[in-house]
Amino acid sequence: MSDRKHNSSLNSLGIKSLLGTEFLEKSQIETIIKYSFLFKKLVDEGRPIPQTLAGKTVILLFFEASTRTRSSFELAAKRLGATTLVLTKEGTSTEKGETLVDTARTIQAMRPDALVLRHSSAGSPFHLNQILNVPVINAGDGFHEHPTQALLDLMTLQEFKGRIEGLKILIVGDIAHSRVARSNIYALKKMGAEVSVCGPPTLLPPKVEQMGVEVHYELDKAVKNKDVIMTLRIQFERLNSGQSPSRGEYSKFYGISESILKLAKPDVLVMHPGPVNRGVEISPEVADGSRSIILNQVGNGVVVRMAVLHLLTGGELIEAKV
Ligand code: CP
Repeated sequence: MSDRKHNSSLNSLGIKSLLGTEFLEKSQIETIIKYSFLFKKLVDEGRPIPQTLAGKTVILLFFEASTRTRSSFELAAKRLGATTLVLTKEGTSTEKGETLVDTARTIQAMRPDALVLRHSSAGSPFHLNQILNVPVINAGDGFHEHPTQALLDLMTLQEFKGRIEGLKILIVGDIAHSRVARSNIYALKKMGAEVSVCGPPTLLPPKVEQMGVEVHYELDKAVKNKDVIMTLRIQFERLNSGQSPSRGEYSKFYGISESILKLAKPDVLVMHPGPVNRGVEISPEVADGSRSIILNQVGNGVVVRMAVLHLLTGGELIEAKV
């Protein structure tokens, strides 16, 4: 399932598709973050956005629910001048039994310039990347990866902490079922952060320490000296009854509350990819409090997806225009 199709003539990233942070090099992550900040500057200053996707079509196949990722990809593509087409499971021939591959081939026949895919099957973007000749962007595949979420998280850390290297980051919760955790672990480690994970043993993947992370089971000990706490949504829809803790029990042992924050560094930041189970993995006071950068993550999601679409579709260098 490798995407090591490096070819400098493809685009300035040198990859055809964005399938996962596992396959990105540090320099590629840096390039995406650099372009994200360039686009953010233009957006924040209300200046004209280079229409680098004018005349191009971006198709968004969202076969799993999404608010943030879907709307920010669509907004990103439109801000760059692309035409967009959003297809969901409901109302398409998927409901009649058409396979994902047949749907993708049908779409390719309409000559899009990029395809963004969210799907419940881990590996589905890799499969489409093998058979399609346009960039495929993974917008979340099952438990596997969610690379643009990790990239927007890294951009937000860079923005608020001024660096990623050396940051002590704790990821809390359902690591086993979290594509966000997996993509973040790969990306953060490549950028030199120190990553720890904490959660109930049933929600940590076997041999997670082999990903180069420190493993904790007790939250009050895990948060000590951390710069950033990244808490995750408990994915009740993906858990079987044996794995699923009660909401109250989970909140008591692994919920991020004001009293837990007091044990971390005074300037600790709290992140969450959303959507939030308020009162379960995070208290409303923390989610809405001064340490939370959850809505900054959402805002940065748009410019990160602008950068990814721009770079993968062969976008020109825009530094001179910023
Ligand atoms: N973070 C994230 O992927 O959110 P959505 O499911 O709303 O896209």
